[in-house]
Order: sequence, then C-alpha cells, then structure tokens
Amino acid sequence: MKSIMEVKTSLLDNMIGVGDMVLLEPLNEDSFIENLRSRFDHNEIYTYIGSVVISMNPYRSLPIYTPQKVEEYRNRNFYELSPHIYALADEAYRSLRDQDKDQCILITGESGAGKTEASKLVMSYVAAVCGKGQEVNKVKEQLLQSNPVLEAFGNAKTMRNDNSSRFGKYMDIEFDFKGDPLGGVISNYLLEKSRVCKQPRGERNFHIFYQLLSGASDDTLLKLKLDRDFSKYNYLSLDSANVNGLDDAASFRTVRNAMQIVGFMEDEVQSVLELVAAVLKLGNIEFKPESRVNGFDESRVKDKNDLKEMCELLGIEQSVLERAFSYRTVEAKMEKMSTTLNVAQAYYARDALAKNLYSRLFSWLVTRINESIKAQAKTRHKVMGVLDIYGFEIFEDNSFEQFIINYCNEKLQQIFIELTLREEQEEYIREDIEWTNIVYFNNAVICDLIENNQNGILAMLDEECLRPGTVTDDTFLDKLNTICAEHQHFESRLSKNSKFLTDHSLPHSCFRIQHYAGKVLYRVEGFVDKNNDLLYRDLSQAMYKATHSLMRQLFPEGNPAKVNLKRPPTAGFQFKASVGVLMKNLQTKNPNYIRCIKPNDKKVAHIFTDSLVCHQVRYLGLMENVRVRRAGYAFRQPYESCLKRYKMLCKTTWPQWRGPARDGVAVLLTDCSVPTEEFAYGRSKIFIRNPRTLFTLEERRRACLEDLATLIQKIYRGWKSRTHFLLLKKSQVVVAAWYRRYAQQNKYQKIKSASLVMQSFIRGWKARNILRQLKYEKRCKEAVTTIAAYWHGTQARRELRHLKEAAREKHAVSVIWAGWQGTKARRELRRLKEEARCKHAVAIIWAYWLGLQVRRDYRKFFRANAGKKIYNFTIQRIMQKYFLGLKTTTMSPMDNTWPAKPYGFLEGAHTELRRIFHLWRCKKYRGQFTEEKKAVYEEKLEASEIFKDKKALYPSSVSQPFKGDYLEIQKNPKYQKLNSAVEEKVLLADLVNKINRANGKGSPRLFLLTKSNFVLADQKTGQVKTSVPLPDLASVSVSTQSDGFFALKLKEGSASASKGDFLLSSDHLIEIITKLHRIGTTAADRDQINIDISDEFLVQFKQDKVCVKFIQGGPKNGNSAACKRKNNRLLEVSVPSP
Ligand SMILES: Nc1ncnc2c1ncn2[C@@H]1O[C@H](COP(=O)(O)OP(=O)(O)OP(=O)(O)O)[C@@H](O)[C@H]1O
Ligand SMILES: [Mg+2]
Repeated sequence: MKSIMEVKTSLLDNMIGVGDMVLLEPLNEDSFIENLRSRFDHNEIYTYIGSVVISMNPYRSLPIYTPQKVEEYRNRNFYELSPHIYALADEAYRSLRDQDKDQCILITGESGAGKTEASKLVMSYVAAVCGKGQEVNKVKEQLLQSNPVLEAFGNAKTMRNDNSSRFGKYMDIEFDFKGDPLGGVISNYLLEKSRVCKQPRGERNFHIFYQLLSGASDDTLLKLKLDRDFSKYNYLSLDSANVNGLDDAASFRTVRNAMQIVGFMEDEVQSVLELVAAVLKLGNIEFKPESRVNGFDESRVKDKNDLKEMCELLGIEQSVLERAFSYRTVEAKMEKMSTTLNVAQAYYARDALAKNLYSRLFSWLVTRINESIKAQAKTRHKVMGVLDIYGFEIFEDNSFEQFIINYCNEKLQQIFIELTLREEQEEYIREDIEWTNIVYFNNAVICDLIENNQNGILAMLDEECLRPGTVTDDTFLDKLNTICAEHQHFESRLSKNSKFLTDHSLPHSCFRIQHYAGKVLYRVEGFVDKNNDLLYRDLSQAMYKATHSLMRQLFPEGNPAKVNLKRPPTAGFQFKASVGVLMKNLQTKNPNYIRCIKPNDKKVAHIFTDSLVCHQVRYLGLMENVRVRRAGYAFRQPYESCLKRYKMLCKTTWPQWRGPARDGVAVLLTDCSVPTEEFAYGRSKIFIRNPRTLFTLEERRRACLEDLATLIQKIYRGWKSRTHFLLLKKSQVVVAAWYRRYAQQNKYQKIKSASLVMQSFIRGWKARNILRQLKYEKRCKEAVTTIAAYWHGTQARRELRHLKEAAREKHAVSVIWAGWQGTKARRELRRLKEEARCKHAVAIIWAYWLGLQVRRDYRKFFRANAGKKIYNFTIQRIMQKYFLGLKTTTMSPMDNTWPAKPYGFLEGAHTELRRIFHLWRCKKYRGQFTEEKKAVYEEKLEASEIFKDKKALYPSSVSQPFKGDYLEIQKNPKYQKLNSAVEEKVLLADLVNKINRANGKGSPRLFLLTKSNFVLADQKTGQVKTSVPLPDLASVSVSTQSDGFFALKLKEGSASASKGDFLLSSDHLIEIITKLHRIGTTAADRDQINIDISDEFLVQFKQDKVCVKFIQGGPKNGNSAACKRKNNRLLEVSVPSP
C-alpha cells in the first residue's frame, strides 16, 4: 500500500514561499510578512491558513481568472492545486451540493483591499461550475448583473478606493438539490447617504450621477432637464470628477444593459433616472433670507428655475414644495403649528430631502432586484451567502458613517474569532483533546462598548436623540464621557477619569475608540442628526403629492391618511438590529473566510508596504489563526459521519460496521496505516491533524468508489451479456433454419438454370451447323449465277462487237443492231421477268409454307430451324422489295435515274438490269414513231452526221423541227403561179438571200426544193428565175461558223453551169443542206452531193472565181453576219463571235 506521506500535492510542489502558512517554518511575524511579500512579488496573491484564504490586492488584472482556470479548479480537492479563491469557492459549492450544508463566504478587509472583487470572483466561479440550461443561465445572468446596478448607485470613489462600496451587501444565493441556482436575496446595510450632499476632498459622489451625465444620450438629458457639465451641480464635487481608469459613459451603458437583464421595465429605468436627476436639481436650489415683521428671517427660494424644473420632473406642485422649504408644521397633542424656517434650516431640509430621496431610491432598487431574482420554486433551498461589507475605515475626519462601518467590521471580526479561534479551541477542550491554550485578542469587549443595550455608545446616542429638551452633539459627548470613561477602549479628552486631559491628539469635540484594527478618532458633530435622520413631515407630504408614482412609493409616510406621530427608529438602532440578524444568519452556516489585504495605500501595483501589511496581519489576527491551526487539527468529523464516508476503505467496516462508530473509525484508520500521531480521538469526533492525511483518505475513497462502481458495472454487464447471449442463441436456431431452407432453394434454382443453359447451348450448336450448311449452298448458287452472268456478258459483248463493226460499215446496220438489241433485251427481260415471277411465286409459296412449318414446329424446333427459315424468308422479302422498288423509274429514255443499289450482293444484277431496262424502253419508245416522224428523226440524224462538231450553227438547230415548207406554197395564193410552175412536190420552200458578187449585198429570193430540182424565184412576183436539176449540183460549201451562208456549186460542163454558182444565205441553212444531201443520197443513180465545211472556199460566178472568206469578230451589226466585197476576188463575211 502506498504510504500516506508519499502522496504529493501540488500545493506543496513548486511553491513560491509556502502556499499554506501552517507549513511556515519558522513561524513569526517577519517570516509571515516575508512569505506574503515573496508570493506577492511572484503574482501569487492567494495564500492559505488552513482553509482560510488570504488575498492580496494586486491592483492590476492577472491572467488567473480564465475559463481554463475555472476548469482546472473544478471538482478538485482544496489542497490539490496552488492557493486560489476558486479553490475556496469550489470547496464551498461542493459542500453545499454534496453534503447539503449551507455556506457563507465572509470577505473582510479594509477599504480597497479587494472584497467586492473577491465576492464577484466567487459568484462568477459558482455561476461557471453550476448547472446549465436556459432557465438556469437566465437566473445566473440576473444574479451576476445585479452587481453593476448596485455598484453604480452604491459605490463611489474615495481616497482609499476608486470603487469603494458605500453600503453593506449580503447576498444569499439559493440552489436546488442538484446545485443549480434558483435565485437569490440581497440585503443591504446602511448606505452612506451623507455623500449625496457633500463629499470629502478628493472624493466623488455616487458613480451614477457622473455616469448619467457622461453616458446618457442628448435626448435623455433633455428629457431629464439636465446638462452634461458637472460644474453646474452643487452636489457634484469637481476636483475629482474624472477618475483615471473609469469610463463613466461606458459604465452607464453597462448599467442600462444590466438593468434590462435583471428585468427592469423601460419606464422603471426612466423613473429611476428621473429621481437621480431630481436629486441633482434639488442640490441647485438655493435660499435667501427675507425679513419678517416679527424680526425673524424667513427663507425664500433664490432662483426658482431649478425648483420649477424639479417639480416638473416629479409632477409636484411648485408652490407646495416652495412652502415646505419655508415653513414647518409641528403637531403636538392634536394641535398643528406652523413655524417658519430660516435659511440654514431650509438648507438642512433640502439636504435631508436629497439624502432621504437617494437612500430610499437605493433601497427600492434592492427590493426591485430581489423581486426579479427571487427563487420561483417553493422547494427547500440550499443557500450560499456572500458577504461584502464596506471595509474598516480610518479617515482624518471620521463621522457617524465610519462609526457604523467600523462597528460592522468589529462584528465580523468577532464572528471570525468566535468560529475560528475560540470555537476551535473550545471544541478541543470539549472533546477532551490534549490542548495548550493559545492567547488571542477577543474584540467582544469593543463590540460590547458599542452595542451594549444599557451603556453602549449606540444606546446612549438613541437615548440622547429621544430625550426631551435641547439635544446637541456635545450633550451626547458629555454623556459618553460620563458613562464610558472607564472603558479601556474608549478615549476622550474630557472623560471622567481625565486620563487623556493632556492628549492633544484628541480634540475636545471628539472621542476615540481602540478598534481591533486600530484607534479611530470620531468627531461627534452630526452624530445626533444622522442618527435621528429626520425629514420634515411637510417635505415627505409634498413628495407624496407628486404624480411620479415611484416618488409616492418612496415616501409612504407622507400620506396624510396615515399620519404617524411616533418617531421612526433611529439609524443606529436599525443598523444594530440588522447587523444582529446578519450575525445570527451567518452563525447557522458553514463559514468560509477570505481575508483581503491591501499591499499599499497608493492604489498601485507592485508596491508592498511592509508596515501597512504588518498592521493588517496583526489586527486581522492572522498569526493567532496560524498558531491555532498548527497546534490543532486540520479536520474533524463526528465518528458516525467519518465512518460512513470512509468505511469502504477497510474490509472489516465494509459494507456494514456493527459496533460503536468510534471503534469502527479506529479499525479503519489502523487498517489504512495512518500514523497514530496524525489523528486523535475526541469524545464524539475524530480529529485529523494534517490536511494531507485527509486528502489521501479522500483519494483512496475516490479510488475505492471507482472500484465499487466497477464491481457493480461488472455484475450488471455479466447479467446483461448472459441475457443477451441466451437471446442470441435462440435467435441463431431460428436464423439457421431459415438460412438452410434458403440455401437449398438457391441450389435447386441454380441446377435448374444450368440445365436450361446446357440445353440451349446444344440447340444453338445444332442450329449453327445447319446455318453453315445453308450458307454454303447459297454461296454455290450465287457462284453459278455469277458465272452465268459473266458468260452472258462475254457473249453479249462479243455480239456487240460484231454488230458495231457491221454498223460502222453501213448505216442500216444500226437499225439491225437496234432491232437485234431490242430482241435480245426483250428476250432477256422476258426471261428475267419470268425468273422474277417464278422467284416471287416461289418465295410467296415458300414463305407461306415456311410460316406454316414454323408455326407448326414453333414450340419444339424453333431454336433448331428458325435461323435458316428466317434467313430465306428475309432474302426473299429483300428481293421482292428490291424488284418492287425498281417500278418507280419512268419509261422516258431521257430519264437517267436508277435506284441506288440496296445491297452489295445485288451489284452485278443491278447494273445489268439497268442496262437491259434502258435498251428495252428505247425500243419501246422507237416503236411509237409514225413514218413521218421517223423521216424527220432520220433527217435530224443525218444533219447530225453532217454538221455535228463541224459547224458552230448546228447546236442551235437541234431543237428546231424541220418544217420543210416555210412559205406554205400550196395555201398561199401569192405563190399560186410558182406552184403551178413547179410540177413536182415541193420538199422545201424558204426565203433566202442571194448574195450579189458586186457589192456583197443580198437580195431576197424564194428557194424551193423538189425531188429533182432546186428553184430560185422572185420573192415578189413568184416568177421562177432559175431551176437547177439536182444532178447538176456538185457540192455545197458552208463555213464552220454560226452564219447562214452557203454556196451551191454546179458541176462543170453541165447545162446549168453557165449561170454560175450561187452564194446564198438562209435562216434554215442546216435543214436546206441536210435535205439537199438526203435527196442526193436517196437517189441511187445520182452522185452524192459533197458538203465542204471550211472558212474559205471559192465560188464560180459567171465570169470569174471569187474567194469567200469567213472571219470572226467582224463589226457587229446585230446578230447576223455581214458580207462585204473586198476586191474583185474576195468577199469577206464577218461573223459575230459566239
Ligand atoms: N483580484 C484582483 N485583481 C485585480 N484587481 C483587484 C483585485 N482585487 C481588487 N482589485 C482592485 O482593487 C480595487 C479595490 O477593490 P474592491 O473594490 O474590491 O475593494 P473593497 O475591499 O471592496 O473596498 P471597499 O471596502 O472600499 O468597498 C478594485 O477596484 C480593483 O481595481
Ligand atoms: Mg467594496
């Protein structure tokens, strides 16, 4: 087992000085101060004395309040980490939560020592570690935000502290059983209200006045009838209006925000600000004396402006308030008397009103906050109280307020002594623990001097105040001098024992008290007034008459219906009572102490004034505290609860110890090997000397609890696993049965589908074999067809060659060739048609048969035969479709269209069919011709043979039909004579120009052609001029160009030759020449007429030969050629360029 002493705590590790003064060696005042100083120099501002925390004010922000720090200290043992205020807060919070003990945090120290800061740190720590949730967070926020509001109204800058609390505050935070905050209650103690009217030099009024003037918007100030300038207000001290490090404007925003979070309504905030403004206005009201007939001076308001504004703000009738400042009504024995006020009394009344107004406003604020933060649930609460009271104060000039404040501090010191020093020592004795008494100063005697009901200072003050007759501060001092003269802590120049008669540091109007924290000199001036705290009834009644609702609430005694002639309790009496209640309250709770120490008087960081610290250490009784702590025991607990807490550490005591608790604890400690000097047995409690021992016990308890938890966990897990396993086993059987069935089903399905696959493979293989066979047969058939086609082709070509040769020899051959071709084509077509018809018929029959077959065999043999059948059927369909597709071509021989080849395998047949079809339709076309038409086409054919590609005129003539008789000789009566002159049938009659060789000009002539002659006749008369028998015509000459000139040359020596050759021009040259040539050709007995085509030829005119020359691009006169005589032997014909 680990030895207890081996346990390390970080409290003891890496310490600067010692973290716990109890461990200080040697223990004396110097080493104590030195320890504080060295820790302070290293920013260690917290030091323990056992469970008491000493806090040094660092006067600067240290990085030790971060959320990480909060986490670090959360749920840790007090001595586990280095000293910190968080450790104390955590300890208090956990005792409250886990051990159900109400706690109080007592924070003491003089003004500026850091009490308020410490209280805020404690609250923020508790807020950070306690439960979370929307509702809880709201409560926390409200509790935390109550601070800025109260600080604004209750704190002020003093010589000792820039943010000095001028009221006492005790806050009870209420928690539910889980440790979640439910709400809180704040109690406030006596606000130092004299500050409202007057502040000592270098100090300020309450923060809110400055914050309002600096931070409020112009609009708000206008509404409140205020001016930003501090100097305009009598109640605001000017010499320290601006404090370094304080941003009043920003603070104002914070306060407004905090008020909103706490739950103040907008109109409530407005009312509060109006009252603050009213106090400022009130301070500005001034008075002047006005002589009365009776010789007395009566006070009058000097400048009524401020009064008017204040009345407007609060809704008070101005005259009522004005009267209240000039008169005072005194009621005695049902009789009312009005007395006038002089100027001094008026000022007194004004200030009393201001002070009362402000302090009542402050109390109202506390009540209002309490209303908001009040715990809603009615369940039992656990409470943590935080006490932050004004610190002990010693000024040069101390008055009633300081007296009260210091009395309160005395009481706190008393409670500290009671609980830590006296109570502790008494307990050792009670418990019969060996103990050497430690001497300490008990301030009970000072408390008694102040609060004793018979002859205490407060009691005497009250007595003075209530006594009839003239009462002044001096009569009060006289009384003190008589009654307290003997008291060892009371000093006065004129006291009865005249001990201080020669003490010049003690003025006549003062008395001095030796407080626990030092001697304080009090000036009696104002004691009686302040204790009386009188406000003239006229003023409270005037206030009650205000329309401002908050104002009315604050002055309920002003209600004329409830006139109470009894004097209200004095301030001292009230304070004493409330402090009494507080002390009682604190005594019921478990105390946690934070002792704040101020390192210097300058409010600056890094300065440690030994004498000042030493003084505080002394009066706080810290040395005695350490001594008691060291001599005594760090921890005590009744045997029962100790046993209950640690019984799991020992087998004998766990789980139940049957016997006296004390024996159980003894067994336990022996079993845990705690050295005997570490503990002592009291009557009812066990005392443990060293915190480390306790810490070790706690550690082991924690470990033990973990083991116990593990055991419970283990058993639970075992049970859970076993149940789970049984369930799994049962389920597994069901799952296995289902799975087996599923697997067998799967297997069967697989076998079934495998046999189907095999079947289809075999069928496929068979089908492919048949397909291969069929394909082979088809290829053989196609090969035969192709060979046959080639053979036919060769034959045809050979035939064609023969025919071509024959045709070339004779023109007639072409006719024979065509006929032969036609016959051949017809035959071929017939054959093909027959074949196609057969194929088609066969295909249809075959398809039907196949369809039948397929349908019949479909189910059984589809897979085996379908391929071949579908193939054949498809081929036939293709052929059928192909042949039907050919039908679209027209019968015109000119039509060149032919459908595209649809399939590659039809290529041979496709071209051959095209050729045969073309020949056939040509033949058909020719068959339609009549004899005349045939002759016309023959003529055209002849013209083509003569002129094609030889004469440029030819192409234009192709489209012109050969009409022959252009003059309509038979019908035209004009040519009747001519008609009768020509016996034969006229084959051609046309108008020509006969060219005159002399000038090249043409003269019109009629040109007629019969079977045997050509005739030239006069155009006008129709008289035959020349008739030449055709056999006399030797040749015809024409040019190669597009002109219509032609020369008819006669045979030399013939009868007609004497007339000379004819040079003519005609529009129908091609027709004339063709007909001449034809007639010449058909007449077998005649020589053929030669046709010369050249651009230069000779013409034999009557006498001489003339050369006719054709040139191109001659002068253009229209479109026709022009003939010109060049000389005797040359006629030039210029033909326009094409
Ligand atoms: N822990 C701290 N860290 C930093 N600054 C601190 C700390 N404690 C106190 N201070 C400083 O010291 C100033 C005075 O502290 P605080 O107001 O708490 O004194 P107090 O003891 O409440 O005095 P009083 O009795 O006058 O109200 C604070 O305004 C702050 O500037
Ligand atoms: Mg304070």
